[in-house]
Amino acid sequence: MTSSIVTPSTDRMEGTSTTPRGTDRADAARDHLWMHFTRHSSYTDGGAPPIIVRGEGCRVWDAAGREYLDGLAGLFVVQVGHGRRELAQVAAKQAEQLAFFPLWSYAHPSAIDLAERLAHHAPGDLNRVFFTTGGGEAVETAWKLAKQYFKLTGRPGKTKVISRSIAYHGTPQGALAITGIPPMRAPFEPLVPGAFKAPNTNSYRAPEGLAGPEHLKEFGMWAADRVEEAIVMEGAETVAAVFVEPVQNAGGCFPPPPGYFPRLREICDRHDVLLVSDEVICAFGRIGSMFACDDFGYVPDIITCAKGMTSGYSPIGAMIASDRLFEPFATGSTSFLHGYTFGGHPVSAAVAMANLDIFEREGINAHVREQSPVFRATLEKLLDLPIVGDVRGEGFFFGIELVKDKATKETFDDEESERLLRGFLSKALFDGGLYCRADDRGDPVVQLAPPLIAGPAEFDAMEQILRGVLTEAWARL
Ligand SMILES: Cc1ncc(COP(=O)(O)O)c(C=O)c1O
Repeated sequence: MTSSIVTPSTDRMEGTSTTPRGTDRADAARDHLWMHFTRHSSYTDGGAPPIIVRGEGCRVWDAAGREYLDGLAGLFVVQVGHGRRELAQVAAKQAEQLAFFPLWSYAHPSAIDLAERLAHHAPGDLNRVFFTTGGGEAVETAWKLAKQYFKLTGRPGKTKVISRSIAYHGTPQGALAITGIPPMRAPFEPLVPGAFKAPNTNSYRAPEGLAGPEHLKEFGMWAADRVEEAIVMEGAETVAAVFVEPVQNAGGCFPPPPGYFPRLREICDRHDVLLVSDEVICAFGRIGSMFACDDFGYVPDIITCAKGMTSGYSPIGAMIASDRLFEPFATGSTSFLHGYTFGGHPVSAAVAMANLDIFEREGINAHVREQSPVFRATLEKLLDLPIVGDVRGEGFFFGIELVKDKATKETFDDEESERLLRGFLSKALFDGGLYCRADDRGDPVVQLAPPLIAGPAEFDAMEQILRGVLTEAWARL
């Protein structure tokens, strides 16, 4: 122990102040907290990570009392906004009544109610809900289910999975094998074998002859056919599942071109391969429906989801599977030998129910559908800047791709990307009062996904801050 021990800083519900704890807590963060996906060297030499202490609506405050617009809903999580007393109270009540019980051969009311509600919202016959504590576990669960399902139904060779390049599907070793970001995988090789990649739907960088809005549908067919090519190349008798996000996050928001998902559904059916819709980001209103497969007109075999289910007031994830996939487990002595102690935690499940009540009461999904064009139009104003190559996305989920040359779409080299994204942009945006994400897992993008209660005032504020910072970034190049 090298740091002084400090007591919790605030209790917003009790209305106490947000006194900055300053150096003692910053020291403790530097000395003891191992942050996720974080280059800790940025915090040596007296630096410290921003310490966020409070949230209300679309805004958060740091320990020094500075206010920020939450342009990323935490991490694509806080759908109904920060500071909802109602959700905190539901959590407290559930913890008092039954803080914990596992779903290992026992059930509890909040998990039952939530499973029933999710099944009701899910399309087709996706009626069976397996709870996890987060998204990566849901993805991991889906791959394991796909393998066991095919073993139980006489096709034991079907074990492989196809996913798309640059897609992020989580960090457990199976989910990481599905993830298509080579630098993120490299330190942990060898990963689970049998995960193969196909092109994604980045229409801004479509191949020659398929680029431009006039070729969008054709590009979508091309991209879907690459998935089929991968299935055939591996041998359909060896492929269990295809994992795709409705709108791919990593790389900077790649919506599906028209017709892409119906084609992908056909391909999966033709080869008896399960279609997994990884909706860890896209579900719960992010695109405008409870499940984003409804936004794009397809019925998957499995949905994986997490994040927005509770708006982040407590952690939970789920894998939702079709009746067909549950059938071999419904009778006899077979069970799915898989589980998590905290999967479907009573507090999280109760909070999810209350969160979904807010969705219904406040018409959150309708608000997203109504306001999405306004959000898009506001961000598209930035296209007048020389550094902004593309603005793309759906719902309340947009990416702004930065380029060195708009005409040629030339991107930044590694050194420029490092200097621009890590060295300047993220910090400058934060200092300017906007928390969002400057991402370089593909070409450099700024990602925006605010709480789903945001409106024109927040869109304008984001545009203004981005305009100032991106103008300065261009001048610094
Ligand atoms: C599409 C997708 N799948 C899986 C995950 C992993 O979720 P978690 O971080 O909850 O494990 C994420 C996280 O961002 C995601 O975006």
